[in-house]
Amino acid sequence: MPHSDSAPGTPAIQPPEATRRDFIVLTAQAMAAVGAATVAWPFIDSMNPAADTLALSSTELDLTPVAEGQQITIKWRGKPVFIRHRTADEIKEAQTVKLTELPDPQPDAERVKQGKEQWLVMVGVCTHLGCVPLGNRSGDYHGWFCPCHGSHYDTSGRIRKGPAPHNLVVPPYAFLTDNRIKIG
Ligand code: FES
Repeated sequence: MPHSDSAPGTPAIQPPEATRRDFIVLTAQAMAAVGAATVAWPFIDSMNPAADTLALSSTELDLTPVAEGQQITIKWRGKPVFIRHRTADEIKEAQTVKLTELPDPQPDAERVKQGKEQWLVMVGVCTHLGCVPLGNRSGDYHGWFCPCHGSHYDTSGRIRKGPAPHNLVVPPYAFLTDNRIKIG
């Protein structure tokens, strides 16, 4: 008869408490590693394909399914790009702020296409140290909030408060038709 640690019908032997704790600690460390990978996007990005290869890449997108007040995130050249269908209130908020109140002064009109003010397209990388900000009217200015060190962006993606030095970057893009854009 082969040797068995527990007789049939008896509960399985539980690992000692310390082993279970070790497992929980290891799991937490693994989660932290995943978090670090998320915030380190731009630094790792430097290992991606050469600039001349990236320069060729562009993405086309149909905006029809994106309802007013919604935001989608797509990946372009290895980075997240936020596309937000702004509400009338968000547009008004973005257009009426005084430029003297902005750390990186830029009118909303320079960040959107004329006649398409409802669409805001931005690289979703915080200009401080590269975290991906939270969207959907986050932060004190109802735009985006970067929880890494507390940068608040407004409804035009402009920095309003916190350590980020610049507005979220608007990538090159164009409308191909009324609802179709090409980024890059
Ligand atoms: S990386 Fe966004 S506030 Fe520091």
